[in-house]
This record gives sequence, structure tokens and C-alpha cells, in this order.
Amino acid sequence: MADMAERVVQSPVNHFTVRAIDGQFAGKDFISVDQLGPDDVTRLFEVARNMESIVARRETSDLLAKIGVAILFYEPSTRTFGSFSAAAHWLGASRTLEVQGMSAYSSALKGETLPDTIRSIEQITAYDLIVLRHPEDNSGYEAAHYAKVPVVSGGAGTLEHPTQAMLDLYTIQHKLGRVSGLRVGMLGDLKNGRTVKSLGRALTMMDPGAQFYFIGPEELKMPETEVHGFEQRGARVVQTPDLQSVLPELDVLYVTRIQKERFPDTQEGQALYDSLKGRYIVTPEVMKEAKPDMIVMHPLPRVDEISPEFDADRRAVYFDQMGMGLYIRMALLALLTGKD
Ligand code: NCD
Repeated sequence: MADMAERVVQSPVNHFTVRAIDGQFAGKDFISVDQLGPDDVTRLFEVARNMESIVARRETSDLLAKIGVAILFYEPSTRTFGSFSAAAHWLGASRTLEVQGMSAYSSALKGETLPDTIRSIEQITAYDLIVLRHPEDNSGYEAAHYAKVPVVSGGAGTLEHPTQAMLDLYTIQHKLGRVSGLRVGMLGDLKNGRTVKSLGRALTMMDPGAQFYFIGPEELKMPETEVHGFEQRGARVVQTPDLQSVLPELDVLYVTRIQKERFPDTQEGQALYDSLKGRYIVTPEVMKEAKPDMIVMHPLPRVDEISPEFDADRRAVYFDQMGMGLYIRMALLALLTGKD
């Protein structure tokens, strides 16, 4: 008897696909939030809670005792790289290869393609899982296509950052006690930012009736294809350049950095960046209009879009938010290697 056809998720760039999780994490890649269903998120959060207690006890576990993990980053990172590395070590991974400067120091500089690098790393290490951050939108799908072991995206181009979306969702659940029925504002560079797209997909998957307010300058608007995708799933989307007009409505304000490095490296590109930077700054004064029980999130790093004076406000949860990344990434490493 033929098996029920397995659901796959296709790259928005080419024909490469990854298998959906749909109840079975072990042995799969994690490239897109679209691979998950609500039950997968529930399972992930359950495992993440167990991971919190491992860290709270300050005792490393031996769940990944026989596992090797390669962490390859082609773009700068503090939190994602650091927490994947820490996650592997907290779980007792016996072997790790951690390279933060792939663009500067690997054979990429000599012109090697991503598929060749991935196949090489896999062969020379014989490790069980690869975590990859790369500036190209298709990089996660491409690496997953060529690797025989699971590939986890630590951020791909401007489109996907699935592990960030999971830690964001975990933070919302933790702080507000629910991930549905929320009015979520996303502010800043919605065109180039990948976290907002993955989070938007994650929220509409958990709650088809999500209400989004996309706030920012015309030049940095959420791409139409993404907006269309959210609306098709049932979300209501309001787009406005005016933060103050929607701020009193919000349960969550998700602030993002203007992604300087993704502007064209030309005089016009840099002039455009200069004209947009500093246009929205979240300050205690601005936040007087917001509800007392809402939360302000940010994937970090911030530049100037949230003033440090706001950090002491109890609605500022961005430092707690990044802490959640450790538990979510520990849970993902355990689940994808089948060691949960
Ligand atoms: C983000 C990223 O890399 O997409 N950072 C992160 O992973 N926490 C956000 C950013 O770079 O602005």
C-alpha cells in the first residue's frame, strides 16, 4: 500500500524542497517555518521547557553524547551563533566545528560554491547536523538539497529565520500566555528583514485570524507576496507609516533594525539608508500611548531604533527574548537528531 504523500515545502526561489515536520522531527531539515504545524510547535515548546530546567540546574546533559554538530556562519552573528554553540555544548555534543567567519576564511573566498562547501564539510567531519547562516535567500534549501544530514537554517538572506521565529513565538507565549488573538505591530525594515517574515508565517500558522500592523517607510514595506500569503491564511493586515496611530491597539510591537548591509553598495544606496535611519525611535515618551500590558520585542542587534532609556520599562522584553533562543535551539538540536 502506498504511503500517504508526504508534505513538502518548496523554495520560493527554485524547485528545491524540504520535507515538512508534521509530527516527525528526527532526521529532517529545518529551513522554513512552513514545515511546521501547530502540534509541532507544541512539541518544540514542551522540549524547550525541559531544556530550561537543564540550564537552571547548571548541569550539562549527555543527550547529544554521540553527536557531531557543524555550525557554519557566512554572516555576522552574536546571538544565533552563540546560542547554537552553547546549545550543542549544554547537551554534551561530543564534536563540534564552529566557524563564524566562513565568508572571510573558508574556500568561499576562493570561489567555492555553497553545495561544494557543504558536501566537503559533511565528508571531512562525518558530523550529524549542520547549522548554516548565509546571505542568499535560497541557501537553506540548497544546503539541505546537497547535504545527507539535517541542515538547520540560522538565517537565510532576507526571507527566512525559522529558529528566530520559534524563539519569538516562545517569548510571546511566555510573556502573554497565548500566541493567538493578538494585534501584532512590526516596525522598521520589513523589506529586508527576515525575522518579521518568518514570525508572520509562524503567527498565521498558529492563528489564522492574526491581526498585523506593518509600520514603516514606503521604501521598506513588507513585500506584496508576503502580505498576500498572510492574507490568504486569514490574517488581517494594516500597513501604515504612522506608528502613533496604531500603537494604542498593539499587544506586541516587534521592532527591527534597518538592514544597512542589504542596501545597494552605491552612493544612492547609502544616501537612501541615511535618509531612513533614525526615522522611528521607540522612547519612553513615544510608548506613553501604548497599553500597559503589551510587550516590545526586537530580534537584536539594535542600532538606534529603541532608545536605551526604554530598557527599564517592564514592557521591554528583548533581552529576555534572546535568552529563549538557547532553550529553543537546544530543543531543536535534540528533536532533529532524534535524541529528545
Ligand atoms: C537578526 C538576523 O540576523 O536576521 N538577528 C538575529 O538573528 N537575532 C536581525 C538583524 O540582523 O537585524
